[in-house]
Amino acid sequence: MRRVLSLLVAVIFVFGAMAVVTMAEANKGAEKYTIDKCQKKKPVVPFNHYQHQKIQGVTCKACHHEMEEGKTPKSCFECHQCKKGEAPAAKIAFHKNCKGCHVKMKKEGKKTGPTSCVKCHPKK
Ligand code: HEC
Ligand code: HEC
Ligand code: HEC
Ligand code: HEC
Repeated sequence: MRRVLSLLVAVIFVFGAMAVVTMAEANKGAEKYTIDKCQKKKPVVPFNHYQHQKIQGVTCKACHHEMEEGKTPKSCFECHQCKKGEAPAAKIAFHKNCKGCHVKMKKEGKKTGPTSCVKCHPKK
């Protein structure tokens, strides 16, 4: 009985350790980004990544729609390039994602981010 018990404890310990390792490996990216790959007309867009990760009910997949659960997502720009390719152009993808969510939440009367050009593309 003691042996079974200690085996059980060992098994629980190993699985616990595995869970911790998996959590440590999930790459959360940088705290802040400057979205600036395709500028032609508008100033670069500062983006507080961690602030968005903390929004209640918002998962990584709200933005990283292509990612697998628990894996590190790719940069949006790997697929959404400045000009439309297989994926919609970056400007379209970001406006739908960023502005889309802000507009939707604003309609629902929730505290959210900006919907006006100059607030996302602040002049330097
Ligand atoms: C919620 C944030 C947000 C709002 C609001 C927003 N944009 Fe953007 N916009 C972005 C992001 C992010 C990009 C992608 C920047 C990049 O590709 O480097 C972008 C890209 C662009 C681009 C393509 C890049 C360039 O400089 O040519 C243009 C043009 C643009 N926006 C114009 C506008 C205009 C006009 C408005 C208001 C009607 C607006 N945006 C509102 C976030 C926003
Ligand atoms: C509100 C949208 C949003 C949410 C939510 C979000 N991210 Fe991001 N993430 C971005 C943007 C925008 C970038 C920078 C642009 C790009 O992809 O190059 C980025 C970049 C990253 C990168 C770096 C990608 C690279 O190769 O440069 C990683 C890693 C990452 N995010 C992980 C996460 C994880 C994990 C979560 C959930 C805990 C998460 N993100 C939640 C929008 C978001
Ligand atoms: C592995 C490639 C890939 C990556 C990485 C990727 N996307 Fe996409 N995305 C696509 C493709 C392909 C489509 C068009 C088909 C679809 O809707 O799934 C798309 C569609 C979209 C749409 C809908 C556009 C529309 O016109 O309805 C949005 C919004 C979007 N992506 C935003 C993002 C953002 C923001 C990121 C980064 C946080 C990102 N995507 C990362 C490939 C990708
Ligand atoms: C899923 C919904 C959602 C998406 C997608 C999203 N946002 Fe937001 N955003 C929010 C909410 C909610 C807040 C308010 C957070 C707070 O005040 O804590 C916010 C706040 C902001 C702010 C104001 C920050 C401040 O200091 O007050 C900016 C700028 C912003 N978002 C830009 C962006 C950009 C750029 C993207 C796309 C790369 C984006 N957001 C995508 C929901 C979203």
